[in-house]
Amino acid sequence: MAGKVRFGIIGTGAIAVLHAEAIMALENAELVAVYDKVTERCRAFAEKYHVRAVDDFDAFLSDKTIDAVTIATPTGFHGEVAIPAARAGKHVLCEKPLDVTLEKADAIIQECEKHGVVLSAVFQSRFAKNIQLLKKTVDEGRFGKIVLVSTQVKWFRSQEYYDSATWRGTWALDGGGALMNQSIHTIDLLLYINGDPDEVFAYTGTLTHDRIEVEDNACAVVKYKNGSLGVVEASTSCAPGFPRRIEISGSNGTAVVEDDLIVRWQFVDEQPEDEEIRLKGAVSEGMKGGSGDPMSGVSHEGHRRQLADMVDAILAHKDPLLSGREGRRAVQLICGIYESARTGKPVKF
Ligand SMILES: NC(=O)c1ccc[n+]([C@@H]2O[C@H](COP(=O)([O-])OP(=O)(O)OC[C@H]3O[C@@H](n4cnc5c(N)ncnc54)[C@H](O)[C@@H]3O)[C@@H](O)[C@H]2O)c1
Repeated sequence: MAGKVRFGIIGTGAIAVLHAEAIMALENAELVAVYDKVTERCRAFAEKYHVRAVDDFDAFLSDKTIDAVTIATPTGFHGEVAIPAARAGKHVLCEKPLDVTLEKADAIIQECEKHGVVLSAVFQSRFAKNIQLLKKTVDEGRFGKIVLVSTQVKWFRSQEYYDSATWRGTWALDGGGALMNQSIHTIDLLLYINGDPDEVFAYTGTLTHDRIEVEDNACAVVKYKNGSLGVVEASTSCAPGFPRRIEISGSNGTAVVEDDLIVRWQFVDEQPEDEEIRLKGAVSEGMKGGSGDPMSGVSHEGHRRQLADMVDAILAHKDPLLSGREGRRAVQLICGIYESARTGKPVKF
Protein backbone atom coordinates (compact mmCIF):
# COMPACT_ATOMS: atom_id res chain seq x y z
CA MET A 1 0.00 0.00 0.00
CA ALA A 2 2.89 2.36 0.96
CA GLY A 3 1.21 5.76 1.14
CA LYS A 4 -1.38 5.06 -1.54
CA VAL A 5 -4.62 3.06 -1.38
CA ARG A 6 -5.52 1.15 -4.56
CA PHE A 7 -9.27 0.87 -5.18
CA GLY A 8 -11.57 -1.39 -7.15
CA ILE A 9 -15.22 -0.47 -7.79
CA ILE A 10 -17.96 -3.12 -7.56
CA GLY A 11 -21.02 -2.19 -9.66
CA THR A 12 -20.43 0.22 -12.53
CA GLY A 13 -23.82 1.97 -12.81
CA ALA A 14 -24.88 5.57 -12.15
CA ILE A 15 -23.18 6.38 -8.82
CA ALA A 16 -19.97 4.53 -9.73
CA VAL A 17 -19.08 7.47 -11.99
CA LEU A 18 -18.77 9.69 -8.89
CA HIS A 19 -16.70 6.99 -7.15
CA ALA A 20 -14.26 6.87 -10.07
CA GLU A 21 -13.97 10.67 -10.31
CA ALA A 22 -13.55 11.02 -6.54
CA ILE A 23 -10.82 8.36 -6.33
CA MET A 24 -8.98 9.88 -9.28
CA ALA A 25 -9.09 13.32 -7.63
CA LEU A 26 -7.09 12.06 -4.61
CA GLU A 27 -3.28 11.99 -4.58
CA ASN A 28 -3.08 9.08 -2.16
CA ALA A 29 -5.63 6.88 -3.92
CA GLU A 30 -5.68 5.10 -7.26
CA LEU A 31 -8.44 3.37 -9.20
CA VAL A 32 -7.01 0.11 -10.54
CA ALA A 33 -9.94 -2.16 -11.48
CA VAL A 34 -13.71 -2.47 -11.75
CA TYR A 35 -16.17 -5.36 -11.56
CA ASP A 36 -19.84 -5.53 -12.58
CA LYS A 37 -21.89 -8.65 -13.08
CA VAL A 38 -22.91 -7.25 -16.48
CA THR A 39 -19.66 -7.72 -18.42
CA GLU A 40 -20.30 -5.20 -21.22
CA ARG A 41 -21.16 -2.46 -18.70
CA CYS A 42 -18.00 -3.24 -16.75
CA ARG A 43 -15.79 -3.15 -19.84
CA ALA A 44 -17.25 0.14 -21.13
CA PHE A 45 -16.68 1.75 -17.71
CA ALA A 46 -13.12 0.41 -17.50
CA GLU A 47 -12.34 1.73 -20.95
CA LYS A 48 -13.65 5.20 -20.07
CA TYR A 49 -11.46 5.43 -16.95
CA HIS A 50 -8.44 3.51 -18.35
CA VAL A 51 -8.51 0.81 -15.68
CA ARG A 52 -8.78 -2.99 -15.71
CA ALA A 53 -12.17 -4.67 -16.11
CA VAL A 54 -12.34 -7.91 -14.13
CA ASP A 55 -15.07 -10.28 -15.35
CA ASP A 56 -14.94 -12.76 -12.49
CA PHE A 57 -15.79 -11.77 -8.88
CA ASP A 58 -13.45 -14.36 -7.28
CA ALA A 59 -10.59 -13.13 -9.45
CA PHE A 60 -11.43 -9.54 -8.44
CA LEU A 61 -11.34 -10.48 -4.74
CA SER A 62 -8.06 -12.37 -4.96
CA ASP A 63 -6.37 -9.53 -6.90
CA LYS A 64 -3.52 -8.39 -4.63
CA THR A 65 -3.27 -5.02 -6.37
CA ILE A 66 -6.66 -4.03 -4.88
CA ASP A 67 -6.44 -2.77 -1.26
CA ALA A 68 -9.99 -1.41 -0.95
CA VAL A 69 -13.33 -1.62 -2.74
CA THR A 70 -16.19 0.80 -3.20
CA ILE A 71 -19.63 -0.79 -3.44
CA ALA A 72 -22.11 0.70 -5.90
CA THR A 73 -24.44 -2.23 -6.55
CA PRO A 74 -28.20 -2.10 -5.87
CA THR A 75 -28.66 -1.79 -2.09
CA GLY A 76 -29.97 -5.31 -1.46
CA PHE A 77 -26.73 -6.73 -2.91
CA HIS A 78 -24.38 -4.65 -0.72
CA GLY A 79 -23.87 -7.42 1.85
CA GLU A 80 -23.52 -10.03 -0.87
CA VAL A 81 -20.39 -8.28 -2.14
CA ALA A 82 -19.17 -6.43 0.99
CA ILE A 83 -18.91 -9.57 3.14
CA PRO A 84 -16.71 -11.57 0.72
CA ALA A 85 -14.64 -8.40 0.14
CA ALA A 86 -14.02 -8.04 3.91
CA ARG A 87 -13.13 -11.75 4.12
CA ALA A 88 -10.62 -11.17 1.31
CA GLY A 89 -9.03 -8.41 3.44
CA LYS A 90 -10.28 -5.47 1.37
CA HIS A 91 -11.27 -2.21 3.07
CA VAL A 92 -14.86 -1.31 2.16
CA LEU A 93 -16.59 1.94 1.22
CA CYS A 94 -20.27 1.03 0.96
CA GLU A 95 -22.93 3.19 -0.69
CA LYS A 96 -25.99 4.27 1.28
CA PRO A 97 -27.89 2.61 2.80
CA LEU A 98 -25.54 -0.09 4.17
CA ASP A 99 -28.18 -2.66 3.22
CA VAL A 100 -31.97 -3.07 3.14
CA THR A 101 -32.47 -4.28 6.74
CA LEU A 102 -30.75 -3.70 10.07
CA GLU A 103 -29.80 -7.40 10.24
CA LYS A 104 -28.10 -7.24 6.84
CA ALA A 105 -26.34 -3.95 7.76
CA ASP A 106 -25.12 -5.53 11.02
CA ALA A 107 -23.73 -8.54 9.14
CA ILE A 108 -21.55 -6.19 7.04
CA ILE A 109 -20.36 -4.28 10.12
CA GLN A 110 -19.53 -7.49 12.02
CA GLU A 111 -17.64 -9.06 9.14
CA CYS A 112 -15.54 -5.91 8.56
CA GLU A 113 -14.74 -5.70 12.28
CA LYS A 114 -13.89 -9.41 12.41
CA HIS A 115 -11.44 -9.10 9.53
CA GLY A 116 -9.92 -5.81 10.72
CA VAL A 117 -10.77 -3.84 7.59
CA VAL A 118 -12.01 -0.24 7.54
CA LEU A 119 -15.71 0.12 6.70
CA SER A 120 -16.98 3.53 5.64
CA ALA A 121 -20.71 4.04 4.97
CA VAL A 122 -21.42 6.71 2.36
CA PHE A 123 -23.30 9.82 3.49
CA GLN A 124 -21.37 12.45 1.58
CA SER A 125 -23.57 15.36 2.74
CA ARG A 126 -21.95 15.19 6.18
CA PHE A 127 -18.79 16.62 4.65
CA ALA A 128 -20.41 19.91 3.52
CA LYS A 129 -18.84 22.89 5.32
CA ASN A 130 -22.19 24.31 6.49
CA ILE A 131 -23.21 20.93 7.93
CA GLN A 132 -19.90 20.70 9.80
CA LEU A 133 -20.46 24.24 11.10
CA LEU A 134 -24.00 23.39 12.24
CA LYS A 135 -22.80 20.24 14.00
CA LYS A 136 -20.00 22.14 15.77
CA THR A 137 -22.37 24.93 16.85
CA VAL A 138 -24.88 22.44 18.26
CA ASP A 139 -22.07 20.57 20.08
CA GLU A 140 -20.84 23.85 21.60
CA GLY A 141 -24.33 24.43 23.05
CA ARG A 142 -24.97 27.74 21.27
CA PHE A 143 -28.60 26.81 20.47
CA GLY A 144 -29.36 26.45 24.18
CA LYS A 145 -31.80 23.64 24.88
CA ILE A 146 -32.62 22.01 21.54
CA VAL A 147 -36.41 21.81 21.20
CA LEU A 148 -37.46 21.17 17.57
CA VAL A 149 -35.41 19.41 14.87
CA SER A 150 -37.30 18.82 11.64
CA THR A 151 -36.73 18.10 7.99
CA GLN A 152 -38.64 18.37 4.72
CA VAL A 153 -37.40 16.37 1.76
CA LYS A 154 -39.93 17.26 -0.94
CA TRP A 155 -38.22 15.56 -3.86
CA PHE A 156 -39.47 14.20 -7.14
CA ARG A 157 -38.78 10.96 -8.97
CA SER A 158 -40.68 10.10 -12.15
CA GLN A 159 -42.19 6.66 -12.80
CA GLU A 160 -39.53 6.39 -15.56
CA TYR A 161 -36.85 6.70 -12.87
CA TYR A 162 -38.35 3.76 -10.97
CA ASP A 163 -38.73 1.82 -14.22
CA SER A 164 -35.10 2.47 -15.23
CA ALA A 165 -33.80 -0.54 -13.25
CA THR A 166 -35.73 -3.52 -11.92
CA TRP A 167 -34.40 -3.09 -8.36
CA ARG A 168 -35.71 0.46 -7.89
CA GLY A 169 -38.84 0.82 -5.77
CA THR A 170 -38.69 -2.79 -4.47
CA TRP A 171 -38.53 -3.83 -0.81
CA ALA A 172 -36.00 -6.60 -1.47
CA LEU A 173 -33.38 -4.51 -3.30
CA ASP A 174 -34.16 -0.81 -2.61
CA GLY A 175 -35.22 -1.48 1.00
CA GLY A 176 -37.86 1.24 0.83
CA GLY A 177 -38.68 4.37 -1.12
CA ALA A 178 -38.65 8.10 -0.33
CA LEU A 179 -37.15 7.34 3.09
CA MET A 180 -34.68 4.49 2.54
CA ASN A 181 -33.39 5.65 -0.82
CA GLN A 182 -33.72 9.44 -1.02
CA SER A 183 -34.31 11.05 2.40
CA ILE A 184 -31.82 8.80 4.18
CA HIS A 185 -29.06 11.37 3.59
CA THR A 186 -31.03 14.01 5.47
CA ILE A 187 -32.11 11.61 8.22
CA ASP A 188 -28.43 10.77 8.72
CA LEU A 189 -27.73 14.50 9.13
CA LEU A 190 -30.48 14.86 11.77
CA LEU A 191 -28.98 11.99 13.79
CA TYR A 192 -25.42 13.21 13.29
CA ILE A 193 -26.29 16.70 14.50
CA ASN A 194 -28.99 16.04 17.14
CA GLY A 195 -28.23 12.52 18.38
CA ASP A 196 -30.22 9.30 18.48
CA PRO A 197 -34.01 8.94 18.49
CA ASP A 198 -35.95 7.68 21.49
CA GLU A 199 -39.33 7.03 19.88
CA VAL A 200 -41.10 7.48 16.53
CA PHE A 201 -44.65 7.40 15.18
CA ALA A 202 -45.28 7.48 11.44
CA TYR A 203 -47.60 7.25 8.45
CA THR A 204 -46.40 6.25 4.98
CA GLY A 205 -48.21 6.03 1.65
CA THR A 206 -47.73 5.26 -2.03
CA LEU A 207 -49.63 8.17 -3.52
CA THR A 208 -48.45 9.01 -7.04
CA HIS A 209 -46.49 6.07 -8.47
CA ASP A 210 -48.37 3.04 -9.83
CA ARG A 211 -45.60 0.55 -10.32
CA ILE A 212 -43.59 0.63 -7.08
CA GLU A 213 -43.90 -1.53 -3.96
CA VAL A 214 -42.46 1.05 -1.55
CA GLU A 215 -43.62 4.39 -0.10
CA ASP A 216 -43.36 7.61 -2.09
CA ASN A 217 -44.50 9.72 0.88
CA ALA A 218 -43.89 9.52 4.62
CA CYS A 219 -44.46 11.65 7.66
CA ALA A 220 -42.95 10.78 11.03
CA VAL A 221 -42.91 12.42 14.45
CA VAL A 222 -39.70 11.77 16.32
CA LYS A 223 -38.80 12.16 20.00
CA TYR A 224 -35.03 12.32 20.42
CA LYS A 225 -33.00 11.04 23.36
CA ASN A 226 -32.00 14.63 24.22
CA GLY A 227 -35.70 15.46 24.75
CA SER A 228 -36.20 17.41 21.52
CA LEU A 229 -39.08 16.69 19.12
CA GLY A 230 -39.30 16.83 15.35
CA VAL A 231 -41.03 15.94 12.12
CA VAL A 232 -39.62 14.09 9.11
CA GLU A 233 -41.49 14.73 5.84
CA ALA A 234 -40.20 12.66 2.94
CA SER A 235 -41.49 12.48 -0.61
CA THR A 236 -40.64 11.58 -4.18
CA SER A 237 -43.99 12.96 -5.43
CA CYS A 238 -43.40 16.73 -5.09
CA ALA A 239 -42.72 17.89 -8.66
CA PRO A 240 -40.44 19.44 -9.72
CA GLY A 241 -38.49 18.72 -6.51
CA PHE A 242 -37.26 21.19 -3.88
CA PRO A 243 -34.07 21.61 -1.83
CA ARG A 244 -34.05 19.46 1.27
CA ARG A 245 -34.57 21.54 4.38
CA ILE A 246 -33.31 21.01 7.94
CA GLU A 247 -34.55 23.25 10.77
CA ILE A 248 -33.00 23.26 14.22
CA SER A 249 -34.44 25.41 16.99
CA GLY A 250 -33.26 25.78 20.53
CA SER A 251 -34.04 28.11 23.42
CA ASN A 252 -31.21 30.38 22.21
CA GLY A 253 -31.43 30.28 18.42
CA THR A 254 -32.56 28.76 15.15
CA ALA A 255 -30.75 27.65 12.01
CA VAL A 256 -32.21 26.49 8.72
CA VAL A 257 -30.18 24.73 6.05
CA GLU A 258 -31.44 24.09 2.50
CA ASP A 259 -29.25 21.70 0.53
CA ASP A 260 -25.75 22.97 1.41
CA LEU A 261 -26.85 26.57 2.12
CA ILE A 262 -27.52 28.29 5.44
CA VAL A 263 -30.78 30.23 4.90
CA ARG A 264 -31.43 31.21 8.52
CA TRP A 265 -28.92 31.74 11.35
CA GLN A 266 -30.35 33.69 14.26
CA PHE A 267 -29.42 33.72 17.91
CA VAL A 268 -30.62 35.62 20.94
CA ASP A 269 -26.99 36.62 21.60
CA GLU A 270 -25.96 37.79 18.10
CA GLN A 271 -22.15 37.59 17.78
CA PRO A 272 -19.93 39.63 15.44
CA GLU A 273 -19.16 36.52 13.31
CA ASP A 274 -22.85 35.68 12.71
CA GLU A 275 -23.25 38.09 9.79
CA GLU A 276 -20.19 36.56 8.08
CA ILE A 277 -21.59 33.06 8.67
CA ARG A 278 -24.86 34.13 7.00
CA LEU A 279 -23.00 35.64 4.02
CA LYS A 280 -20.58 32.73 3.54
CA GLY A 281 -23.31 30.18 4.30
CA ALA A 282 -25.38 31.51 1.40
CA VAL A 283 -22.70 30.44 -1.11
CA SER A 284 -23.07 26.86 -2.39
CA GLU A 285 -20.14 24.46 -2.47
CA GLY A 286 -21.93 22.56 -5.22
CA MET A 287 -22.91 19.75 -2.82
CA LYS A 288 -26.62 19.69 -3.61
CA GLY A 289 -28.88 16.67 -3.29
CA GLY A 290 -30.73 15.32 -6.34
CA SER A 291 -34.10 16.96 -5.64
CA GLY A 292 -35.66 16.39 -9.04
CA ASP A 293 -33.25 14.00 -10.72
CA PRO A 294 -30.83 11.62 -8.98
CA MET A 295 -27.70 12.69 -10.84
CA SER A 296 -28.36 16.21 -12.13
CA GLY A 297 -26.29 18.87 -10.39
CA VAL A 298 -24.64 16.23 -8.17
CA SER A 299 -20.84 16.60 -8.11
CA HIS A 300 -18.21 14.13 -6.92
CA GLU A 301 -16.98 16.58 -4.25
CA GLY A 302 -18.85 14.97 -1.33
CA HIS A 303 -17.60 11.52 -2.28
CA ARG A 304 -14.08 12.93 -2.71
CA ARG A 305 -14.12 14.28 0.84
CA GLN A 306 -15.53 11.04 2.23
CA LEU A 307 -12.97 8.94 0.34
CA ALA A 308 -10.16 11.26 1.52
CA ASP A 309 -11.29 10.65 5.12
CA MET A 310 -11.44 6.89 4.51
CA VAL A 311 -7.99 6.79 2.91
CA ASP A 312 -6.57 8.70 5.92
CA ALA A 313 -8.25 6.17 8.22
CA ILE A 314 -6.74 3.23 6.31
CA LEU A 315 -3.24 4.72 6.21
CA ALA A 316 -3.32 5.91 9.84
CA HIS A 317 -5.09 2.79 11.21
CA LYS A 318 -7.96 4.79 12.72
CA ASP A 319 -11.74 4.96 12.37
CA PRO A 320 -13.24 6.98 9.51
CA LEU A 321 -15.70 9.79 10.34
CA LEU A 322 -18.46 7.68 8.84
CA SER A 323 -17.84 4.19 10.17
CA GLY A 324 -20.27 1.32 9.56
CA ARG A 325 -21.79 1.92 13.00
CA GLU A 326 -22.42 5.57 12.07
CA GLY A 327 -24.00 4.47 8.78
CA ARG A 328 -26.28 2.07 10.65
CA ARG A 329 -28.04 4.85 12.60
CA ALA A 330 -30.20 6.15 9.74
CA VAL A 331 -31.12 2.60 8.69
CA GLN A 332 -32.29 1.93 12.26
CA LEU A 333 -34.53 5.04 12.42
CA ILE A 334 -36.00 4.36 8.96
CA CYS A 335 -36.75 0.73 9.86
CA GLY A 336 -38.48 2.05 13.00
CA ILE A 337 -40.55 4.45 10.88
CA TYR A 338 -41.60 1.57 8.61
CA GLU A 339 -42.53 -0.57 11.62
CA SER A 340 -44.62 2.22 13.13
CA ALA A 341 -46.44 2.86 9.84
CA ARG A 342 -47.10 -0.87 9.47
CA THR A 343 -48.34 -1.48 13.02
CA GLY A 344 -50.00 1.88 13.70
CA LYS A 345 -48.04 2.07 16.98
CA PRO A 346 -45.10 4.13 18.20
CA VAL A 347 -41.73 2.40 18.07
CA LYS A 348 -39.24 2.81 20.92
CA PHE A 349 -35.51 2.47 20.25
N1 LIG B 1 -24.59 8.55 -2.30
C1 LIG B 1 -25.50 8.92 -3.18
O1 LIG B 1 -25.85 10.10 -3.29
C2 LIG B 1 -26.11 7.88 -4.07
C3 LIG B 1 -26.73 8.27 -5.27
C4 LIG B 1 -27.27 7.27 -6.09
C5 LIG B 1 -27.20 5.93 -5.71
N2 LIG B 1 -26.62 5.60 -4.51
C6 LIG B 1 -26.58 4.19 -4.07
O2 LIG B 1 -25.69 3.49 -4.93
C7 LIG B 1 -26.16 2.17 -5.17
C8 LIG B 1 -26.28 1.95 -6.68
O3 LIG B 1 -27.19 2.86 -7.24
P1 LIG B 1 -27.13 3.25 -8.80
O4 LIG B 1 -28.16 4.28 -8.99
O5 LIG B 1 -25.73 3.51 -9.21
O6 LIG B 1 -27.63 1.85 -9.44
P2 LIG B 1 -27.49 1.38 -10.94
O7 LIG B 1 -28.62 0.43 -11.18
O8 LIG B 1 -27.29 2.53 -11.87
O9 LIG B 1 -26.11 0.54 -10.94
C9 LIG B 1 -25.94 -0.67 -10.21
C10 LIG B 1 -24.86 -1.50 -10.94
O10 LIG B 1 -24.57 -2.64 -10.12
C11 LIG B 1 -24.47 -3.79 -10.99
N3 LIG B 1 -24.72 -4.98 -10.18
C12 LIG B 1 -25.90 -5.47 -9.75
N4 LIG B 1 -25.70 -6.53 -8.94
C13 LIG B 1 -24.36 -6.71 -8.87
C14 LIG B 1 -23.54 -7.65 -8.21
N5 LIG B 1 -24.05 -8.60 -7.40
N6 LIG B 1 -22.19 -7.55 -8.36
C15 LIG B 1 -21.68 -6.60 -9.16
N7 LIG B 1 -22.40 -5.68 -9.82
C16 LIG B 1 -23.74 -5.72 -9.67
C17 LIG B 1 -25.49 -3.52 -12.08
O11 LIG B 1 -25.22 -4.30 -13.23
C18 LIG B 1 -25.31 -2.03 -12.30
O12 LIG B 1 -24.33 -1.74 -13.26
C19 LIG B 1 -27.47 2.05 -4.40
O13 LIG B 1 -27.22 1.43 -3.15
C20 LIG B 1 -27.91 3.49 -4.19
O14 LIG B 1 -28.68 3.67 -3.02
C21 LIG B 1 -26.07 6.55 -3.72
